[in-house]
Amino acid sequence: PGVRPLIAGNWKMHGTLREAAALAEGVRAGAVAEALPADLLICPPFLHVQVLAAAMLGQPVAVGAQDCHAATKGAHTGDIAAPMLRDVGATHVILGHSERRADHGETDAVVRAKTVAALAAGLVPVVCVGETEAERLAGQAEAVVSRQLAESLPDGFAGVVAYEPVWAIGTGRTPTEADIAAIHGTIRAALAARFGEAGAKTRILYGGSMKPGNAKGILALPNVDGGLVGGASLAAADFLAIARAA
Ligand code: G3H
Repeated sequence: PGVRPLIAGNWKMHGTLREAAALAEGVRAGAVAEALPADLLICPPFLHVQVLAAAMLGQPVAVGAQDCHAATKGAHTGDIAAPMLRDVGATHVILGHSERRADHGETDAVVRAKTVAALAAGLVPVVCVGETEAERLAGQAEAVVSRQLAESLPDGFAGVVAYEPVWAIGTGRTPTEADIAAIHGTIRAALAARFGEAGAKTRILYGGSMKPGNAKGILALPNVDGGLVGGASLAAADFLAIARAA
């Protein structure tokens, strides 16, 4: 209550430019056709950010990227700086996704540095945390997430947090609603303790196999302020159905 939900689509490494434009247009058309109870964000691959940001200008669909570098410029072959994203119209950036942590060895310290860069560039960071299956089975989920939060978020953080249990991503499996509520409660307490009023209002998204069929129950849980949607964000109808459930 009080916080308008955010439904964010992480398109990951999918699609041609033509497909990306069509998907964005489908989301846009849905968003203007009805009064959705949530803000919408789409995060296409870097190559498609500029075109989609231009297409969504003035529309009720924000456009973000899936990563940025910690530096504003320099000798970093293949990387993209936060000010470059802002320059082409992006407003958000996903940081510390478990696929970046796993595929590119991103540590909490790296994620924190990128988050600082995003904030300095005027982007809203969507910082991801979440335990692996082994960590959950060992009873370490809350401890892992608490450590990731403490070390990935810089002082003065103002953005979005996404809780994504690694084992729920792309698997069709989700934690129980009770487990989601418990860990979101832990995240809220940590944010409020560190950031005060700002932390009490920070949007905490759930991500991991969110679909039209399970979205209503998950999005109704306390301290769940939206979703970070992977696979189901690649079909406008499914993405809009999840937004409708917020
Ligand atoms: O960032 C999004 C998540 O990794 C969730 O992906 O909805 O395909 O499980 P998924």
